Amino acid sequence: MEGPPALEVVESPLGVESEIRVDEPLPDALPVLPLRETVTFPETLTPLAVGQERSIKLVNDVLGASRMLAMVAARDPESEEPGPGDLYGVGVVGVVVRMLKVPDGTIRILVQGTQRVRLGPYVAEEPYLVAQISELPDVVEEGPELQALSGNVQRTFSEIVEQIPYLPEELQMAVANIEDPAALGHLIASALRISTEEKQQLLEEVDVAARLRHLSQILARELEVVQLGSQIQSQVESEIDKGQREFFLRQQLKAIQEELGEGDEQQAEVNELRQRIGEANLPEHARKAADRELSRLEKLPPAAAEHGVIRTYLEWLVELPWAAHTEDNLDIAHARKVLDADHYDLEKVKDRILEYLAVRKLKPDSPGPILCFVGPPGVGKTSLGRSIAGSLGRAFERISVGGVRDEAEIRGHRRTYIGAMPGTIIRALRDAGSRNPVFMIDEIDKMGADFRGDPSSAMLEVLDPSQNDTFRDHYLDLEYDLSNVMFIATANVLDTIPAPLQDRMETIELAGYTLDEKKHIARRYLVPRQIEENGLRPSQIEFADPALAAIIDEYTREAGVRNLERQIGSICRKVARDVAEGRSKGKVKVSAKRSRELLGRRRFFAEQRRRTKDPGVATGLAWTPSGGDVLFIEATAMPGAGKLTITGQLGDVMKESAQAALSYVRGHWKDLAQEQGETWFTAHDIHIHVPAGAVPKDGPSAGVAMTVALASLISGRPVRNDVAMTGEVTLTGQVLPVGGLKEKSLAAQRAGIKRVIAPERNEGDISEIPEHERSALEFVYVEEVSRAIQEALA
Ligand SMILES: Nc1ncnc2c1ncn2[C@@H]1O[C@H](COP(=O)(O)OP(=O)(O)OP(=O)(O)O)[C@@H](O)[C@H]1O
Ligand SMILES: [Mg+2]
Repeated sequence: MEGPPALEVVESPLGVESEIRVDEPLPDALPVLPLRETVTFPETLTPLAVGQERSIKLVNDVLGASRMLAMVAARDPESEEPGPGDLYGVGVVGVVVRMLKVPDGTIRILVQGTQRVRLGPYVAEEPYLVAQISELPDVVEEGPELQALSGNVQRTFSEIVEQIPYLPEELQMAVANIEDPAALGHLIASALRISTEEKQQLLEEVDVAARLRHLSQILARELEVVQLGSQIQSQVESEIDKGQREFFLRQQLKAIQEELGEGDEQQAEVNELRQRIGEANLPEHARKAADRELSRLEKLPPAAAEHGVIRTYLEWLVELPWAAHTEDNLDIAHARKVLDADHYDLEKVKDRILEYLAVRKLKPDSPGPILCFVGPPGVGKTSLGRSIAGSLGRAFERISVGGVRDEAEIRGHRRTYIGAMPGTIIRALRDAGSRNPVFMIDEIDKMGADFRGDPSSAMLEVLDPSQNDTFRDHYLDLEYDLSNVMFIATANVLDTIPAPLQDRMETIELAGYTLDEKKHIARRYLVPRQIEENGLRPSQIEFADPALAAIIDEYTREAGVRNLERQIGSICRKVARDVAEGRSKGKVKVSAKRSRELLGRRRFFAEQRRRTKDPGVATGLAWTPSGGDVLFIEATAMPGAGKLTITGQLGDVMKESAQAALSYVRGHWKDLAQEQGETWFTAHDIHIHVPAGAVPKDGPSAGVAMTVALASLISGRPVRNDVAMTGEVTLTGQVLPVGGLKEKSLAAQRAGIKRVIAPERNEGDISEIPEHERSALEFVYVEEVSRAIQEALA
């Protein structure tokens, strides 16, 4: 077969021409047309190119007669004029349905195959081959196997047709519509481009089932070849234009992500972060870390757990104030004004702050001290810090380290922990938004330590000017310079602050306020603030002096002014309600009586009058974390054998001073209670109790009060109810100095005491107490406890 012209007469290779009579009886012999490299099959239409002279003659002769001929394949496609021995023994009878003469002298014919025949013997070789023929019919064994084979062959073939370009698609239809298994086998066999030998085998197989089985093997093989071919093809293509392919894949990915609604978002997220990193003014080392993390983020799908972790980290990085800072306002007059506007008195503290500013002004890069405000609650430590920040024009941040036991609270968790976060220092810095804020570290005295590490050592690093310029948070894992931060710590007591920390701070004590100071603070600061906070106008409410005194005295007992402010607020709220409901018109004047009505039952009483009525009770003065307080020492005696019982949750030191007091009194029985006789001590058991039993108490400073209580007990003379006392007593009756005299005298004053018995060597401390307060109390300084007893007993 060569060249296409012959095919133009063929509408479809499968169309069976109507004029052909396939039922014509077979003649005994037929001219034989040898075929080169092709095999024809029964019931198929085959175009043939005929070029050999003897074959042209054969066709011409046949066309003039019955148009029938026998076609058979040559074994060797190379042989020029094959003889009978060169041909296969089985061929197909065909009818020439069309003939076309080509200008070069050859002809094209279209032959409709009819029956399969066995050829031979040959009866003539000239002018062309003629052989006797005998029909070779199919053996068909109907059954499910045949059906299955047909189905299989149909399916596989149609698959092949889809993938092989040389097979026209109509074949698929034709094959699908053939019901006769034998015809199916012939059609497919003729369409396939397989070897002549294989085609011939298929032709010669008379058992239809066997033929289909063979065919399906061939088809399976062909399919595999076809698939392999297309795979190789696509691989080759992909090698060729990898770049193009990648571009294509990216487009696809983009489309998928867009479809899922994430592509844009993710890219936008990365872009946004990149922009923020650019704008954040990161120092070199942080910039490197940020770029590294960003490129990791870009490669991760948004669903990956890592994605969120990195994103959060980057957000922390860019939100930190690496470069942002505020300009200090070092105008000292201005600072003074701000501090005065916010706080009453506190002269010593304000002076210290102004000194600090002055030094900074003269030497801007000096690290400056770390201040620590120590004092009872509500005395203005936190609010002073806020004022300092305000006067300097710096941001203010407060962190509380009270109850912190875990170092990670301060310094953060490593990023490998789930839910890791930076520590409180870095968090506060972010909130401050500048790298030189005022940081108030509250409750530094209440920091704990346990197996999770010691937060105070982390704190030490934060507060130490020689290390804090390279502070490293575990989460950030980058150095951050804290040296521009102004740290102010606050504490209620000094002694629980670890010594190395105390060492790095300059402590400023705020002792608490006297009644008079509280009245001033209330009038100047608390009342105006509460009026405003409760939506009132100064023209609508006014507090009379006695009202403030009553609130301070009867409704609060504190060193600071927090409760005072709360009570004032409570009165303001009630008045605000009256005003809002239209019940009061004009200015409401809050008198002492009115404030008692509004606040209800009085909370605090001057107890010492009632308590010290009987002998054996003395009023001591104690220093507590919330300021000073009065403390009652009660002693009773009962018949017994000289046993001493001490109760009220006293610490060892206090118990020992009770023992010492008893020894002293027993040694001096003659001076105190001649009439009792020494045997009194062996005939009685003594019980010393310090009420408010739930509160632990300790320290030596109740020595004087204990001695006085015991002296009162055995002498039967009660202690004067307007006297309170403090001082440590030695076994020989010496009175040693004690701490916190200022707080203690303030507490005495609050409790309505008129006279304070104090150690002589504490006389110098009294200068700390404001003049007007000092004159409200009478101080009696004693060197010997005997003198204290004299002064105290009625
Ligand atoms: N000298 C003062 N002048 C004006 N207001 C004051 C003064 N002292 C305290 N205050 C006010 O009292 C309130 C409580 O003060 P602040 O919160 O600063 O107490 P604190 O010492 O920090 O107490 P804590 O130890 O409980 O934290 C604040 O509203 C503060 O303004
Ligand atoms: Mg505070």
